[in-house]
Amino acid sequence: MRRRTLFYFGLLFIAAVGTHLYFFSSSSDSPHLSDWDDVLEEEPSTSLAADPRKRDAIAAAFKHAWSAYERDAMGSDEYHPLSHTGKNLSHTGGIGYTIVDAIDTMLLMDLHQEYSRARDWIRDSLSFDRDGASRCFNTFETTIRVLGGLLSAHHLSSDDMYLKHAVDLADRMLPAFNTATGLPDTSVNLAAHSGIADPGNHISTAEATTLQLEFRDLAQLTKNTDYWYKAEKAMSAVYAARLPSNLAPISMNSNDGSFLQSDIRLGSRGDSYYEYLLKQYLQTDRTEPIYRKMYDDAMQGIHDHLVQKTPKRKLTYIAELFPKGANWRTTWDINHKQDHLVCFLAGSLMLGATTAGARTRGVVSIPPQMNELTKAGQRDWKTGVALLEGCMATHQTATGLSPEIAQFQQSPQQPDRDWHIKGSRPGGPATYDARYMLRPETVESLFLAWRLTGEQKYRNYAWGIFQAIEKHCRLPGGGYATVVDVDTVPVRHDDKQETFFLSETLKYLYLTFTDASVVPLDEYVFNTEAHPLPIFRPSIKPKFTL
Ligand SMILES: *[C@@H]1O[C@H](CO)[C@@H](O)[C@H](O)[C@H]1NC(C)=O
Repeated sequence: MRRRTLFYFGLLFIAAVGTHLYFFSSSSDSPHLSDWDDVLEEEPSTSLAADPRKRDAIAAAFKHAWSAYERDAMGSDEYHPLSHTGKNLSHTGGIGYTIVDAIDTMLLMDLHQEYSRARDWIRDSLSFDRDGASRCFNTFETTIRVLGGLLSAHHLSSDDMYLKHAVDLADRMLPAFNTATGLPDTSVNLAAHSGIADPGNHISTAEATTLQLEFRDLAQLTKNTDYWYKAEKAMSAVYAARLPSNLAPISMNSNDGSFLQSDIRLGSRGDSYYEYLLKQYLQTDRTEPIYRKMYDDAMQGIHDHLVQKTPKRKLTYIAELFPKGANWRTTWDINHKQDHLVCFLAGSLMLGATTAGARTRGVVSIPPQMNELTKAGQRDWKTGVALLEGCMATHQTATGLSPEIAQFQQSPQQPDRDWHIKGSRPGGPATYDARYMLRPETVESLFLAWRLTGEQKYRNYAWGIFQAIEKHCRLPGGGYATVVDVDTVPVRHDDKQETFFLSETLKYLYLTFTDASVVPLDEYVFNTEAHPLPIFRPSIKPKFTL
């Protein structure tokens, strides 16, 4: 779409910065970049112009991750970079999980050769005639990664080949919505064109409510209203089941449409429910006030019950609730634990504040002036900014990477740190909570914060995280891997390069250093897998309305 990628320059640059060590200071919220770095910083602090040197270094990192996959595992759904092997979700063959998830990043990065080979594979080898009777295709994951990836590749390239595959995939998935309540089955058998219900009829709330952007986009493209109404019906079921707090427990019964007594959290199984409330409102150009209402109510509930600050350093985080006893709908215990996943909420709150929270549409400055925002908008902006600082504080580890789960109580090992990793001690065995699996949520929020404020601080934070990834996750033999304990150096790796590293982490990092005309926020919403989909005025009349 735009300028050339200076790949060789990028490689030299990686080699150069490889000799510099960047660490987050334990006494300040800002990463300390070297003086050398500051000298090269050209633009004024509020400009949204590109930073070509850093942008191209991130594209070079993508090439390092992609070329290893292409060499070792081309065509396989998943990639194991230490053993140099691929794996498919189904024994009957792959569904393009990695390739389709990554291809729009190649388009945005102008990686023509990689793009052309990936496109050839999709054209010649992609098939959804894969047996999933063993529940290997999750309805939600297949939608956000594969359907979302095909749709954004179609929008960015105008190539109908992607749309044809998207229609084929969606038609195989649609029967999953044919349930008593409209809440979808958790798995699909693509070869059989059928949904597979969970044995206990459970579905996680996020899985049922994070399909709508994709199916609605396809409905708008094809004028097939089925996609629209099936996805929308799941939302109306969740609305009908709502609790007084307007917070959503993470499990639902797809048979009767009720919430099950289960945790309330913005982390796993809850997160993207809240994300898609805002994004559904934005996707259809703010024409559907029902999502605005659900979003406003949920953000009120989050502020009433979940936003917390640590006693000493006043770090903002989002706690979890454990519903208790017979009155679990209104009675709970609080748990001061935060998944890395929750860090998406920082940027989401900031995006919401400048859109749903704008007093007058289109009149919000960069950065926003508080008098341009409603009261709720001002509240959400401040919480988003503070939560992002709290998320950055969880990067104050030996590696500069944040753990999968942080406990916001004082660290027994490091009393100057207001949080700790459960069960983790220097030299001890690595716990699940201590890993960094190349997740995107903090850099996603940094990207949004940068675009919405133009404050250099956010680029510096993003660059610090990128440096930590380069130093600790990059494998010399190709690819990037999960780090098993962010507080132990030298690090040990786990044999996994998640597909979201290609589709989300590197894309959000890259877009933080392009100019703001690349995927502008007033023209696109990103699905939860970072696939940009256009904002449109719907030609289909919604059935689920206020
Ligand atoms: C996965 O399936 C694809 C076909 O879609 C095939 O090219 C690839 O070799 C398979 N990978 C493995 C590890 O079997």
